[in-house]
Amino acid sequence: MTPPFADSPRLAPSTAGFANIDQVWEACREDLQALEGRIRCAIDSNAPIINHAASYLFCSGGKRIRPLLLILSARLCNERERQDRLLLLASAVEYIHTAALLHDDVLDDAAMRRGRETARLLWGNKASILVGDYLYAHALDQVIALGNTAIQAALAETCRSMVEGEVLQLSQRRNVNISAGDYVKIIDHKTACLISTTCMLGALLDSAAPAKKAALAQFGRHLGIAFQLSDDALDYSASQHKLGKALGQDLYEGKITLPLLHLLSACTREERTVVEQIIERGETPAHDLDTILRLMERYQSVAYTLEESRRFIALAIEELRAFPPSPYRDALEIVADYVVSRDH
Ligand code: FPP
Ligand code: MG
Repeated sequence: MTPPFADSPRLAPSTAGFANIDQVWEACREDLQALEGRIRCAIDSNAPIINHAASYLFCSGGKRIRPLLLILSARLCNERERQDRLLLLASAVEYIHTAALLHDDVLDDAAMRRGRETARLLWGNKASILVGDYLYAHALDQVIALGNTAIQAALAETCRSMVEGEVLQLSQRRNVNISAGDYVKIIDHKTACLISTTCMLGALLDSAAPAKKAALAQFGRHLGIAFQLSDDALDYSASQHKLGKALGQDLYEGKITLPLLHLLSACTREERTVVEQIIERGETPAHDLDTILRLMERYQSVAYTLEESRRFIALAIEELRAFPPSPYRDALEIVADYVVSRDH
C-alpha cells in the first residue's frame, strides 16, 4: 500500500547543499505555495470586515519565516512527515503570529507595517483587536483538529508567554534604568517564544527524543532573540522605505531596546542627560531622533546590537549539532543566517 505521505515534497539529497536563502525557499516552494493557498482561503466569516482585513494581512508580503522553520524542523526529525499535518500546524502558527501583530500595532499606535498602512488605520483599533481575536480562535481550531495534546499545551503556553512579554514591556516603558536582563526577558517572551515553539513543534509532531526536542527549542529561542535584536537595530539604522515602517518608532513608543541601552551606558554623563530627556519627552521630533542617531553612530550602538544578534545566531546554529548532517540541517542554518543579514 502506498503511504499517504508518499508524494510529500522533500528537499534534494544532502549532496546538493544550499548556497543561499533563495535556494532554501525554492526547495520548500511546493509546501509554501500549498500553505499560501490554505491561509488565504481559510478565513470565511459572516462578518465581511474579518475577511477583508485577513485578506489584506495575508497578502501583505509576509516572509512566512515561521512556517518555513516549522517545515524544516519537522522534516529534520522525520523526512517523511505528512504535508497535511505540517500545513495545518504551519497555518496555525501564522494565524497566531498575525493575530499578535494586529494587537501589537494597536498597542504601539503603529501607522505602517510591511510598507503599507496598518489594519488599525484602515479599519480602526477596535476592529483590529477583534480580527486578531478571530485569527487566534481560528488557530485554536487548527491545533485542536490535529488532536495532539503536547502541541496544544505548547502553543497555549506560548501565547501566555507572548502576552506576558508585552505586559512587561508596557510596564518598562520609558524606564531608562531597565536592566539588560529585563530587556532580554521581554524579547524572549514576546518574540523568541513563538519561534522556539515553532521549531520544537517539528519534534513534537514526530514524538522525537527529548534531546532533539530541547535542541530545536533552544535553536528557535536563540534565533528568536537574534531576530528581535536585529529588528531593534534596524529600527535605528534601516531606510524607512526598506524597513516598511517608521524609523525610530521604538524611541517614539518609549521602548528601551538594546541600541538605546548600549548608548545610555556608553555615553558621557552630559549626553546621558540629553538622551534621558528625549526619552522622557516622548514626542521625538526629527531633530531629537537625529541627536540619538548621531550619538549611536559615535558609540557604535547599532553595530554592538548587531554583533549581539550574530552571537545568538552562532548559539542557535550550535544547537543543530544535536542532529546528523542533512539538507534540512543546512537549510535551518541558512535561515538562521538570513534572519540577521536582512536589511529590513
Ligand atoms: C512585535 O514587537 C510584537 C510581537 C512579536 C508580539 C506581540 C504579542 C502580543 C501583542 C500579545 C498578543 C498575543 C496573541 C497570541 C494574540 P515589536 O513591536 O517590537 O515589533 P514590530 O516592530 O514588528 O512592531
Ligand atoms: Mg510593534
